[in-house]
Amino acid sequence: MPDIDEIKEASQYNAQIAQKTEGFFLKGSNSLEWGMKDRLARIFSPVSGRTVMLAFDHGYIMGPTSGLERMDLTILPLIEYADCIMCTRGALRTLVPPTAGKPVSLRYSAGSTVLTELNDECVMDIEEAVRLNASLLAVMVAVGGKFEAVTIRNLTRAVDMGTRYGIPTLGVTAVGKDMARDARYLSMASRVCAENGAHVVKTYFCENFEQVASTCPVPIVLAGGKKLPELDALTMAYQAIDQGASGVDMGRNIFQAGDPIAMIQAVRAVVHDREKPEKAYELYNTLKNEK
Ligand code: R5P
Repeated sequence: MPDIDEIKEASQYNAQIAQKTEGFFLKGSNSLEWGMKDRLARIFSPVSGRTVMLAFDHGYIMGPTSGLERMDLTILPLIEYADCIMCTRGALRTLVPPTAGKPVSLRYSAGSTVLTELNDECVMDIEEAVRLNASLLAVMVAVGGKFEAVTIRNLTRAVDMGTRYGIPTLGVTAVGKDMARDARYLSMASRVCAENGAHVVKTYFCENFEQVASTCPVPIVLAGGKKLPELDALTMAYQAIDQGASGVDMGRNIFQAGDPIAMIQAVRAVVHDREKPEKAYELYNTLKNEK
């Protein structure tokens, strides 16, 4: 109990200074609860308003894919350069040191692999996400796919559960072999995620990407997709930011790059410093050649 003798009288009311009521820097996020905003502000830089998320959750459907055979050797050295890591609970518990100090976008839906039919998924217990101190719940959403209803229900369930504990949800738009990767489809898929409560949407780059970004009322992060030459990947990231993306959630184009540590720094230069792709590629080569 504090000492209550001789309490100093309060006098500094500063009544002439109005208390500031600041808005929140992220698109569509101003009405969220404090805990959600706090988690989002750990993922997205309040300075640039953007994020570089490092995705290495691919093993949950693909097993030990190229670059992820030994995540202790390939991924751990990259974590310090990421604003947020996106991974499974298995990778988190077995490999990522809790001292890494990075917000986690937890792979929250799962259920099938590339050997059968993708997207027939369910979501895990919210208590597991709380135990792991997740900052974001990543849920696959297959608009137009065979498991569309299942995945949209998963999204709404994640949003409901996450809202109880102040954890935002990331809607991850799935693209199957039979789904078009154009602005019409991706803007519909992204919008469906947002309207069903996703606080952030992850989707792919396409021609007229500004249509996808502008019609989505929450921040969009760009999925990298298949491995491209480094300059092409930097150009894609630059164009996506230019056309309204709030960052990237990139996997293969970082961990399968010729020099992954140089690549993630070059991606950061594009995302946070708005460096032109050619300049960022120069940085990539400089860092690569320093070794
Ligand atoms: C996809 O379902 C996974 O969530 C990956 O994390 C995502 O595709 C991003 O990785 P990449 O940049 O390799 O496409």
